Amino acid sequence: MGTVKKGLLKRILCTALGLIMSFMMFAGCTKGSNQESDSSLILGFSQIGSESAWRIGNTKDIEDQAQNYGVNLMFENANQKQENQIAAIRRFIAYKVDVIAFSPIVEEGWDNVLTEAKDAGIPVILVDRDISTQKEGLTTCLIGADFYNEGVMAGEYLIRKADSLGLEHVNIVEITGTENSTPMRQRQAGFADAIANDSRMTVLESIDGDFLKSRGAECMRYLLDTYGDSIDVIYSHNDEMTLGALPEIEKAGFAPGKDIIIISIDGGQEAIDVLKEGRINCVVECTPKLGKEVMETAIKLKAGEEVNEVIHPVEQVFSDEQDTSKIPDRGY
Ligand code: AHR
Repeated sequence: MGTVKKGLLKRILCTALGLIMSFMMFAGCTKGSNQESDSSLILGFSQIGSESAWRIGNTKDIEDQAQNYGVNLMFENANQKQENQIAAIRRFIAYKVDVIAFSPIVEEGWDNVLTEAKDAGIPVILVDRDISTQKEGLTTCLIGADFYNEGVMAGEYLIRKADSLGLEHVNIVEITGTENSTPMRQRQAGFADAIANDSRMTVLESIDGDFLKSRGAECMRYLLDTYGDSIDVIYSHNDEMTLGALPEIEKAGFAPGKDIIIISIDGGQEAIDVLKEGRINCVVECTPKLGKEVMETAIKLKAGEEVNEVIHPVEQVFSDEQDTSKIPDRGY
């Protein structure tokens, strides 16, 4: 082929490539080249705070997936305060975002602000936690774990453990998550229902640890002072509180995982490492990786499509019943 023809071919190829690239940018396909992406979508997301490795992992996943789907994310961290979440939702409404998503710190108290969102025609996605309301149609769907089932899985593990150890009486103390939050209510209810027909089980006390490591330590000090060596089991509603409680148990002269059965929820890397050491007996998984479903749902809502009312991720139990050395890295 002559040099003139070669040059012409090169120019045609470059022009074609340029046209394809401009079309992809126009169609919003540049970021993450995800086919379902929507670069014109503005999603306002109000996060609860940064109280746990779970929450930090959840924030990262939301941000990563927003980028992957080309979604413009307006992110607000409420630092553990419901009034900050309400103010953030009002800012999203004023900004006229396409979709609002938020993780409600507690279940009650959202009717007014969500009515404002509804009146403004902005669909709302509940992420991670639910709300309690008598009003219809304030939210479109819930994307989050089945917390009740997590509690059931924790209770069922305990029954198997008590069987394998041949225990006749089992005294349990429960360190719960934030009062009136969905995971607190449902993890407590699921666990209580799972052990209800087992006469060996007694819950000595349930105490609010607010999902915080520092509170986990405080609660544990109080529980050890009050019940001493009559505690057989600690059922803690998240890893953070469990990790706060463990050093207190050791300081009091007990070996967690041996003298006291430890059951936790979340499945973050730090807790799984402690499970592998034998200082935790069971960790029920609660995945923070909800970002993909959130983005896909937001895109559908903006397009006026139907969405599923409830989306629960599939979750598992990690425990001393399995070869824990085979548990893969958790990524949060
Ligand atoms: O709502 C999910 C819970 O909130 C997680 O179990 C906990 O770690 C987080 O703070």
